[in-house]
Order: sequence, then structure tokens, then C-alpha cells
Amino acid sequence: MDQFEIVGGRKIKGTVKISGSKNAALPCLFATLLTDEPCQLDHVPQLDDIDIAIKLLVVLGKQVTRDRDQVVITHGTNLTGKAPYELVRRMRASVLVMGPLLARMGRARVSLPGGCAIGARPINYHLEGFKRMGVKIEIEEGYVKAGCDSLKGAVISLPYPSVGATENLMMAAALAKGETVIQKAAREPEIVDLGRMLMGMGVPIEGLGSSRIKITGVSTLSGVNHRVIPDRIETGTFLIAAAVTKGDLTLKGVDLSHLDDVVQVLRKSGLSIKEVEGGVRARWVKKLKPIDVATAVYPGFPTDMQAQWIALMSVIPGRCRVRETVFENRFLHVQELFRFGADIHLDGRDAIIHGGTHLSGCSVMASDLRAGAALVLAGLAAKGKSTILRVYHLDRGYEQMEVKLRKCGAQIRRTNPVK
Ligand code: EPZ
Repeated sequence: MDQFEIVGGRKIKGTVKISGSKNAALPCLFATLLTDEPCQLDHVPQLDDIDIAIKLLVVLGKQVTRDRDQVVITHGTNLTGKAPYELVRRMRASVLVMGPLLARMGRARVSLPGGCAIGARPINYHLEGFKRMGVKIEIEEGYVKAGCDSLKGAVISLPYPSVGATENLMMAAALAKGETVIQKAAREPEIVDLGRMLMGMGVPIEGLGSSRIKITGVSTLSGVNHRVIPDRIETGTFLIAAAVTKGDLTLKGVDLSHLDDVVQVLRKSGLSIKEVEGGVRARWVKKLKPIDVATAVYPGFPTDMQAQWIALMSVIPGRCRVRETVFENRFLHVQELFRFGADIHLDGRDAIIHGGTHLSGCSVMASDLRAGAALVLAGLAAKGKSTILRVYHLDRGYEQMEVKLRKCGAQIRRTNPVK
């Protein structure tokens, strides 16, 4: 298994090109199941999760070709309607094929995704929403067996603004008979990006970015050329890389409006963040201050930036509290940050950080995508050598992270010690 070797203590200085958003590209790839016409997606990041999504599209019957960050999806065979366990267990976002398959075929057989490191992550909101649209749901042999004579538009009130449930239901509604209104819908930029792609395919949608989205079902959808938005979590992660190493980083191809809350708290802490030609420049100009954050649904502080924020707060003198309100078990990185010498106390949903201890390099293990990012950030700040194990977690969501960091002066390399 690959690992990262880092020698910390160097300032990150230079320019990084931000890749397309993983969490926008995934639903957009699955939305191509809604039509047999050719679709082209640009700015698709080259990541393991994208590879799995493409494999799943092919298993379902699509033909897919890829040239760097451009993916072209065309009609292959008739859709098969079954998403197998071996793919779904590797990437839970595979459940997003349910909406398109129900819309196209009136049936879907998708493996239950199971939990993951950060929580149980059930899909009950997705299934309850499908039932409102006339779908019969059975669970057998670890699979969701869903079927309907015809998908009907409905008013669906989500108990929680779930990103995945909103995306799945939007795609189902695209070909349902009549209007669907999703209340308490998620408002994330990735939802808006999917909605824009569906509108480009001919689906009338109102309320994108608000908590009430109205979709008017149509009989067929056309193909589309769609460019995926920049990855706001990669952007935030690199902003923190500049902060934690007292560096000076210019990020190209970003959309700061997608992570306003992160930019605000970083500026409040003292990082200089200025818009420049084609991007943004993040510069450490003075001692940073510890800032309390609580994760929240968009437009609040993203849960996907929580681990990275704790890594930064660990090196800033002073006390602060980070509250995780979205997932029930998203502090696995804290145990690993202890190994660097971080002083953090966990109390239920809160992590209390007494920052300012000098981190020293060590070996640590990534448990999930964003925890892994936090450990890389700690390794960049720590004195001496660090080894980050299980970087396959990072490869799921960060395109060439070590290459981008090395180009900005970090002493980081990927190794694969054969045991
Ligand atoms: C998406 O996951 C993202 N993944 C996650 O990013 C992100 O952390 C999350 O949204 C929150 O922003 C993708 O977009 C591929 P949710 P999703 O449904 O859709 C509970 C990353 O690092 N819930 O908004 O699964 C759930 O357990 C990943 O890129 C139910 O209880 O998130 C969680 O506590 C990690 N029942 C909360 O809601 C449901 O049916 C938010 O989940 C659905 C969700």
C-alpha cells in the first residue's frame, strides 16, 4: 500500500491548480444514465472514486471514454439496472444510480452501501423520498430492490438537508410524471451544479441553491456538455496548507463563493486571502488566532473541512472548540494527531484544542479521505520526518496531492514499501 514520506517545517510557496469537484462530478456522471444521447463532462478530476463511478456506468450499460479531465459517456447496451456490492461497498456514492435507474427503467437493484469510518450513513431519506414517488422498496440479501409502474412527481419533505438524498431525488424527478418539490433540500454548490447539468439536458428546475427545489418531469432528456465546478474542499485544504506552514500559496481555478465560511474564519484567524488574476492568494502575514467552528450544512462550515481545521488549530497557541454536527463519528483523525503531540480533548461532538505545541514527525494512519488530508497538513507543519500510511484514502478525493505540494516546496514523496 502506498504511503507518503514527509519532512516537515518547510513553507509551502507557489501556485496550485485546483481540480474539478469530486462531489459534483459523481452525481453528474450518474445523471448521464437519464439519457441515451452522448454527454461530455469537462473538469472531471482523475481520482479513484471517479474510476469506480465510470466502472459502474459501464457495468450498467454505458460506453465511457476519458481523455485526462474530459469524460464522454455514450449509449452502450440497454441499461441493466443492477449496481453490484463489490462496487457500491468501495464507493457509497454509487447509491446515486438509484434515482436515474428508477427514472429510466422503473426498477433498480442497488447494494446497501453499509457504513463507513465516519458514521452509519444510512440511506433512509433517499428511500422514503422514492416511496413518496410511488416506488415499492424491498431489502433482500443486502440489496435494495426498488420498483414502480411509473414514477410520479411528489412533494417530498426531507427530515434533514441530505446532499445525497437531494441529488438522488432530483434525478428521479427529472423523468417522473408531473412536478416534484423537494423541501428542506440541500443547498451545497454540488447540488446547484447537478441542477445546472439537468437543466442543460432539458429539465425545468426552480429554486437551485435554496431549500425548496421544484423539478418538472419531462418525457426524455437530451445529451449535454457540462463543466464541473472546482473542488471547494481541495481549495480549503490548500488554503490551510498555506496557513499551517506560514506559506504563500496562489490557487488557480477556484470559486471562493463556494466556501465563503471557510474563507471568513481563516481571515478572522489572520490569514491574508486576496483575489488575484484567475484565482486567490493565501499568505501567512502574522501570528494566527484560534477560532471556534461548528460544522453545518451549506452555507455553514463544511464537515469535510473539520479535520483539516483541527490540524491547523493544533499548531496555533490558544484554546478553541470544534463541534462536528453532521456525522456521528468524525474525529478519528484526533487519535492520530495525538501522535504528533497535539493537545486535543474529545467531549462528545466537541474537540477542545489547546494549540501551540510543536508537532514532531511520526508515523500515522489515514482512516478516511479528509482525516488523511489533516494528517498530511500536520506532517507538513511537524518538525522532522512523518509517514502517512493508507494514502489510498487520499487518492479517492485529492488529485496528485503530493505532486501539487512538492511543486510548492514541500518535501513529500509517495513510496510503496513492499512488506
Ligand atoms: C455527501 O455525503 C458528501 N459525499 C460527503 O463528502 C459530505 O461529507 C456530506 O455530503 C455532507 O456534506 C458526496 O457528495 C459523494 P448527507 P452524503 O446525506 O450525501 C445522515 C467527502 O469527504 N443521513 O448529506 O452521504 C448521514 O448519516 C465525503 O468527500 C441519514 O441519516 O451526506 C449524515 O449524518 C465524506 N439518512 C447526514 O445525514 C440518509 O438517508 C449528512 O449526510 C442520508 C443521510
